Amino acid sequence: MPQILDGIRVRDEIKAELKPRIAALAAKSRAPGLAVVLVGNDPASQVYVRNKIKTCEDLGIRSESLRPPESVTTEELLAIIDTLNARDDMDGILVQVPLPPRVDAKRVLLAIDPAKDVDGFHPMNVGNLVAGLPGPRSCTPAGIMELLKRYGIPVAGKRAVVVGRSVNVGKPAAMLLLHENATVTICHSRTVDLAAVCREGEILVAALGRPAMITGEFIRPGAVVIDVGQTRVTDRALAARIFSRDRNDPDKMAAFDKRGFVWMGDVDPIDVVEKASAYTPVTGGVGPLTIAMLMTNTVAAAERRAGLC
Ligand code: GUN
Repeated sequence: MPQILDGIRVRDEIKAELKPRIAALAAKSRAPGLAVVLVGNDPASQVYVRNKIKTCEDLGIRSESLRPPESVTTEELLAIIDTLNARDDMDGILVQVPLPPRVDAKRVLLAIDPAKDVDGFHPMNVGNLVAGLPGPRSCTPAGIMELLKRYGIPVAGKRAVVVGRSVNVGKPAAMLLLHENATVTICHSRTVDLAAVCREGEILVAALGRPAMITGEFIRPGAVVIDVGQTRVTDRALAARIFSRDRNDPDKMAAFDKRGFVWMGDVDPIDVVEKASAYTPVTGGVGPLTIAMLMTNTVAAAERRAGLC
């Protein structure tokens, strides 16, 4: 059986390590502060934001949630960002994406003070990443690197294949793997013979957002497989096609029928067990690390602003 890379365990380790840093900040001046801007009522975004705020509460990070309506204009959002940039008690600013299509998301993200950009989405911080300069790193890719490090999985000299080229996950994940001296390939939906390219990966990072698309023929035997995808699948036929092959978890379809959906990663959950040497499950793999790294970025921003590092 392959090793399961447990994101919940690593998240809890990271949270435990943050606590004394937060206590030191509180003793020196004040606890770190995070402002979260959530536009409208998208149910998935509401769940993500609720989890972020709850994690802040667990850790003693002060959080403030701003909830402009779906009808908010770009100018109004820019005014909110300006106010948060100027506030001394807020160390981090997070604008939950996606924003409504009417809003100019690029202008909004560009307006965030790069020192408070705890998502690592600002072009200046993307530039810092490429240049190998300090600065907040995009949370999901940073979480993947923490997971590899804490499980002692060697990266230097390895062939790493990243499937997906998004600005927030695929590209920064490739850059972080490169900085750790992996030989990195980025591939995507237009790559010719995607399966053959993926099979070169001793480390395979799947970040396409297509449920169970990475099947056994994409996975090199013995690969370390990192599954970033997490799709809420409501199509019973798709869920049944994947999970009816799972002899270890016959209750999965019963759970589907009870809840009306199942979470599915980008990697076929049955094939990965047969082929990989280690893999992240969905759920409980990469997902919990994204918030842990958001907390880490918030604490680091507060430490820099307090002159502690
Ligand atoms: N939407 C989905 N994931 C994220 C994230 O990590 N940060 C922000 N700002 N929005 C998101």
